Amino acid sequence: MLVENNVPLQAFNSLHIVAKAQRLVRIAQESDLQALLSDPKLAALPKFVLGGGSNIVLTGDVRALVLKVEIKARRLVQETAKAFVVEAGAGENWHDFVSWTLAQGYPGLENLALIPGTVGASPVQNIGAYGVELQDRFASLDAIDLQTGQLFSLDAAQCAFGYRDSVFKHGAGAVAGTHQRLGLKERAVILRVRLSLPKAWKPVLGYADLDRKMAEHHCTNPTAQQVYDWVCEIRRAKLPDPQVIGNAGSFFKNPTVTPEQCDDIIARDPKVVHYHLADGTIKLAAGWMIDACGWRGKSVGQAGVYEKQALVLVNRGTVDGSDGATGGEVMTLARAIQTSVYERFGIRLEIEPVVV
Ligand code: EPU
Repeated sequence: MLVENNVPLQAFNSLHIVAKAQRLVRIAQESDLQALLSDPKLAALPKFVLGGGSNIVLTGDVRALVLKVEIKARRLVQETAKAFVVEAGAGENWHDFVSWTLAQGYPGLENLALIPGTVGASPVQNIGAYGVELQDRFASLDAIDLQTGQLFSLDAAQCAFGYRDSVFKHGAGAVAGTHQRLGLKERAVILRVRLSLPKAWKPVLGYADLDRKMAEHHCTNPTAQQVYDWVCEIRRAKLPDPQVIGNAGSFFKNPTVTPEQCDDIIARDPKVVHYHLADGTIKLAAGWMIDACGWRGKSVGQAGVYEKQALVLVNRGTVDGSDGATGGEVMTLARAIQTSVYERFGIRLEIEPVVV
């Protein structure tokens, strides 16, 4: 195990913000982590777990010890009458893993193609797209507790998944009501994730962009490969490739409101894009609201709002140069957007990535 000092993080965060890790350790296998935790000095340091860096905003050098998770391997761990259970190391690239499952004949992740980041980060924010969320396919994960060094496993219920949310995004503490909740923020390193892909596969459709693809191709019953290809096409058309333009995917969550709040907004803005959810609440398209406030294409310094999707903030600098946005510029832009949306719609947009 090697502790590297003053490591540039520009290539390790998809917004390509220039910042350094004062100390960084690469975790290629479980034993690297055990070795680190058995060193009293290293064990005592605050730690920051870095996956693909696709959901973080670096606002300065990282003082915590950065654990860069690079655990590889993917395999079929179990085949039951109903499902294929596949496992991937936390350091595997998510999209490569999705492509591998399809190539092996295990469909079910095609709607989640081309989401940037690693397998280990996928449960943290419960990644989702085109009607599928990770929790819909999740079986279990293994992780190490950074405080005790213990290996533990969690099932879906224990991960407490929500919309772009999980137990890994919350610190320990009481939740409304009586019982304590086990928050695992900065407490756990995910090593492996297992997904259960049902053999009785059927496409998940019903999303406007996918419906358009079906109409274009005169297809009513697509294969998993077709859905995968379409999702890739849709994402490439409207979302920037982080290898070319620095970004962290959707920068804000889509807010949910009560029917009364929605009626109030519709009365003022009849075109507001909204979706009725099963629990009676209504989800509003944050991208539409940001766009309606005139932010699409605008910039603060080198931080900008993507021209084709206002929910995505981009770094207008080159990905390998130092002429790019600072984390401060990104956050100034994000706050200005939050203020505009609040003033016009009375809605506080929540930032999706983790601000470091
Ligand atoms: N819209 C605009 N202007 C814009 C952006 C969007 O009018 O600048 C409108 C669109 O025309 C559409 C609606 O807003 O009617 C929603 O847009 P879109 O279908 O692109 O989806 P989204 O709600 O903006 C969410 C996820 C994406 C995911 C897509 C597809 C969140 C925060 N974002 O975006 O996830 O790929 O749906 O399922 O839930 C991510 O989390 O990083 C991400 C990219």
